[in-house]
Amino acid sequence: MTTLEIRDLHVSVETKEGPKPILRGVDLTVNSGETHAIMGPNGSGKSTLAYSLAGHPKYQITGGSVLLDGEDVLAMSVDERARAGMFLAMQYPVEVPGVSVSNFLRTAKTAIDGEAPALRSWVKDVRAAMENLRMDSTFAERSVNEGFSGGEKKRHEILQMELLKPRLAILDETDSGLDVDALRIVSEGVNRVRSTTDVGVLLITHYTRILRYITPDFVHVFVDGRIAEEGGPELAERLENEGYDRFLVNS
Ligand SMILES: Nc1ncnc2c1ncn2[C@@H]1O[C@H](COP(=O)(O)OP(=O)(O)O)[C@@H](O)[C@H]1O
Ligand SMILES: [Mg+2]
Repeated sequence: MTTLEIRDLHVSVETKEGPKPILRGVDLTVNSGETHAIMGPNGSGKSTLAYSLAGHPKYQITGGSVLLDGEDVLAMSVDERARAGMFLAMQYPVEVPGVSVSNFLRTAKTAIDGEAPALRSWVKDVRAAMENLRMDSTFAERSVNEGFSGGEKKRHEILQMELLKPRLAILDETDSGLDVDALRIVSEGVNRVRSTTDVGVLLITHYTRILRYITPDFVHVFVDGRIAEEGGPELAERLENEGYDRFLVNS
């Protein structure tokens, strides 16, 4: 059982004009086995939450706490967060020229587990995961994210998630730039990991589209750097019909 506890989190982002407060008191608890959808209008701070959990240096924690099974995540380096079982798929993944997907995955797996995976089973696992995601085997020899299409980037993220077996996965706008077929394949990947491991998932999305494939247990609506409303999957349906207008009227 793993628990991520975010308490009264305040975050400012570094801008040319100085620090700008974005998150203004976020409270959220994610247990293993649960999927939480974070929804909300553009600019409400969803990605800021993801980057803050990832330890991105541009985002300054100005208050509150983040605990993973009681351990202070905010005091951990980015590597330590990964070793603690946190997996972060970013809305804008970085390119790593000269490092193949295959090497990248193996290095990440080794870093997280503290030892290199046994070669034969690893090769088998990678092949199976790639087949599941309908990825051509030549993909493994390409440089990470270099010239990847939007769909390839997202598949690569889910490939990592399948192979690294995180305790907590944070997926930011995994549905952006995907056509219906790719969305289904990527969603199936997330669901496969959900059904075969005890992962907790933080699924960040502006649109309700992906929630037709990945049913969340809880839905949280972000407005202006805070959670404005919470509910079950029915809240996502309501947002699908009504949009975010009713949250923005008074802001
Ligand atoms: N690096 C940055 N520099 C300046 N402003 C930023 C930066 N990152 C985020 N912001 C601002 O923070 C707010 C929240 O952004 P973001 O977390 O990306 O929202 P969302 O993911 O919900 O669309 C926006 O107003 C955005 O302009
Ligand atoms: Mg975003």
